[in-house]
Amino acid sequence: MRTTAIGVNFIDTYFREGIYPRDLPFVPGSEGAGVVEAVGAEARGLVVGDRVAWCQVPGSYAQYVVAPAEALVAVPDGVDDPVAASMLLQGLTAHYLITDTHRAVGGDTVLITAGAGGVGQLLIQMAVARGFRVITTTSTEEKAGLCRGLGAHHVLLYPDATAERVRELSDGGVSAVFDGVGRDTFDTSLASLERRGSLVLFGAASGPVPPVDPQRLNAAGSVFLTRPTLADYIATADEYRDRAAEVMGALVDGTLRLTVGATFALSEAADAHRALQSRATTGSITLDPTR
Ligand SMILES: NC(=O)c1ccc[n+]([C@@H]2O[C@H](COP(=O)([O-])OP(=O)(O)OC[C@H]3O[C@@H](n4cnc5c(N)ncnc54)[C@H](OP(=O)(O)O)[C@@H]3O)[C@@H](O)[C@H]2O)c1
Repeated sequence: MRTTAIGVNFIDTYFREGIYPRDLPFVPGSEGAGVVEAVGAEARGLVVGDRVAWCQVPGSYAQYVVAPAEALVAVPDGVDDPVAASMLLQGLTAHYLITDTHRAVGGDTVLITAGAGGVGQLLIQMAVARGFRVITTTSTEEKAGLCRGLGAHHVLLYPDATAERVRELSDGGVSAVFDGVGRDTFDTSLASLERRGSLVLFGAASGPVPPVDPQRLNAAGSVFLTRPTLADYIATADEYRDRAAEVMGALVDGTLRLTVGATFALSEAADAHRALQSRATTGSITLDPTR
């Protein structure tokens, strides 16, 4: 494919820093959108000129990317390239988190950390659409306004984002916490749960959580802890396509909004990482491969 837009994700910084080891040298990035320029002899269902998006394809910070046909998703009219380039990794993540990782049901209150972020914005919308009451956390009043605009019922700014405050707003504790911040929020997340609630630890934007004594889960009210990863929730071609179709369909019919908060030139990818890691961004971030 000739790439037309590239998605930037927090996981790209983990690979760059060596938190997830990879043989050197390597080209970063794992998702993008573009136009099919050539089709392999055994690839089916694709023709030159198709608009496609992909995720989990290493080496996507590039002007041209080679991907297995099954990683490609058709991009419908009405979805522009930057949105297409950044909706799979974060959109599929928000989708599996809300549908398959916890025991909360519609009407329950859930806590989402970093609600103004890439995954966070999508997760708030998907949670609200499923009837959950949403408490979310963020660092600035401007980001808080974005979260409210997406339907969050309560937005807590640090340092007031305490477990006591969450318990107060949820009549004694939330049914599920979706925590992509990790080290800095883990203790608060655990203390915010109701009895038998679910702590879904899906990221480490502030750093990895140190080892946890299982007895803490008992003391917190027989709660559940999971540390899921996207690959296990799109492990089959059918699951990948079904989740992608649902996310893409919601973008097309307007029930889901994906905001590209910033676009950098491909040659400025380092600045994109700096912005993401310094909490300066909202929504998703893309790279423009023509610059
Ligand atoms: N497990 C999976 O399957 C999966 C898949 C995709 C992404 N993830 C994870 O989801 C998380 C969010 O990813 P994203 O790409 O959408 O990023 P993001 O949420 O757009 O950016 C990270 C946000 O985390 C918050 N944050 C809190 N403490 C921070 C700190 N010390 N340093 C940096 N940021 C901090 C900031 O929001 P505030 O300013 O509002 O605090 C920041 O904007 C990441 O941890 C990522 O690894 C996991």
